[in-house]
Amino acid sequence: MTADAVAVGIDLGTSGADAVAIGGDGTTVARASSDYPLSTPHPGWSEQAPADWWVGACDALNAVAAALDGREIAAVGLTGQMHGMVPLARDGSVVRPAILWNDQRTAAQVERLEAAVGRDRLVARGGNPAITGFQLGKVLWLRDEEPAAFERTACVLFPKDWLGWRLTGRRVAEPCDASGSNAFALDAGDWDAEVLGAVDLDPTLWPPIVASDAVVGEVTAEAARATGLPAGTPVVAGGGDNACAATALGLGAHDLATGSLSLGTSGVLQVPLAHATPDPAGRVHLFAHTDGSYLMMGVTLSAAGSLRWLRDRLFPGRPFGDVAALAAGAPVGSGGVTFHPYLSGERTPYMDGRLRGSWQGLSLASDAPDLVRSVLEGVAFSLRDALEVIRPHSRPTRLLTTGGGARGDLWLQICADALGVPLVRLADAPGASHGAALVAWRGVGRRVAIAERVDRTVAPRGQEEEATAAAYARYRERAP
Ligand code: XUL
Repeated sequence: MTADAVAVGIDLGTSGADAVAIGGDGTTVARASSDYPLSTPHPGWSEQAPADWWVGACDALNAVAAALDGREIAAVGLTGQMHGMVPLARDGSVVRPAILWNDQRTAAQVERLEAAVGRDRLVARGGNPAITGFQLGKVLWLRDEEPAAFERTACVLFPKDWLGWRLTGRRVAEPCDASGSNAFALDAGDWDAEVLGAVDLDPTLWPPIVASDAVVGEVTAEAARATGLPAGTPVVAGGGDNACAATALGLGAHDLATGSLSLGTSGVLQVPLAHATPDPAGRVHLFAHTDGSYLMMGVTLSAAGSLRWLRDRLFPGRPFGDVAALAAGAPVGSGGVTFHPYLSGERTPYMDGRLRGSWQGLSLASDAPDLVRSVLEGVAFSLRDALEVIRPHSRPTRLLTTGGGARGDLWLQICADALGVPLVRLADAPGASHGAALVAWRGVGRRVAIAERVDRTVAPRGQEEEATAAAYARYRERAP
């Protein structure tokens, strides 16, 4: 390997592909992205054509390869949106468009799965209850609703594993994504024949599981022509986008006290665990991490998404920062107004896509700052609900924050007060594609890390504690 070699990470996201090249010193050498469409053929459905992923991935990879000026690519690592299902026919062609993580069509199948296996058993074996977004419900839906397509399906893949198949001609899965399927046994680290048997599915429908840092294969001559990557470049399995984002932040078995908080459209609170110990009630997710440890994850589906909704409906055209700044005019507790951010259902702690949001405690005295602050507080309290469930398993002493919502100082402070944990905002926070590149480095025998560059640390304010605690107690009392 040459001294200035890089590893490339590619993130097959929901809105586009993002490719990045990371040098052996952890610095970003090149980065490119390319968008692709998402289709909603019926309300609640969410699909993408893998052919569009391929075009997006090729665009991003070609741009990165071109920017490298001939530097050696030691390996390519894969990451992407979790939970999706790509059905492949025996000849490797795609049987129907991929059904994505945010698709809600599988309520009946998820109910049947839970009845067949039992909720407690599902959680104990796989770390998660049956969830509409997860892959197994989608396979059951295909069998129920599109039997001809199911008949033609010889193999189901996760989105990033489909990209790996196009790059190398090899079909595999790895533990991070597999643990987001409802069909994976955490203790065995393999597909769960008992769960699959309970719903009469054959485990051979899924590809073999390899370690996240295993080399899956090499870029084929055909894929090389399409992507600009040299033929023969090793491709490393990688992990789901949340696990790779955690990898890029340095979360893992070596430091169990640092977690992460992403304030994007959804809010994601992750902490690493050394052992696979699920919440027995299944109120948070438990997934495999890329380093053999586990990630406990709480999700608020509408975090910055709630602020976007508020802005679009009540303050159209105003920049997010201006809208969020209005909250400074309201007291802690928003004058008694409580907002529950369940605008698109909720995962943690309810795992219920049918829940809906609410404003409570409104009076004639409630004004715009109260409404805005209640939304920011409501999201923060929903994340506190997640932390409460996580606490018996982990007590993080700091959370590294990422995402657009973390850029605003006031919201970060509200979250720190609600969570009681210092929040660290990073300058140039690395993303999932960076993590995939680090896993790729590991796959070819090199440990590379990205230096942590702190922009700001926001500590919980002691004097606000009582008012915040009272507002959180009200939020809990008024919860569904
Ligand atoms: C995690 C989840 C999302 C997707 C988004 O459980 O559903 O974060 O991975 O890409």
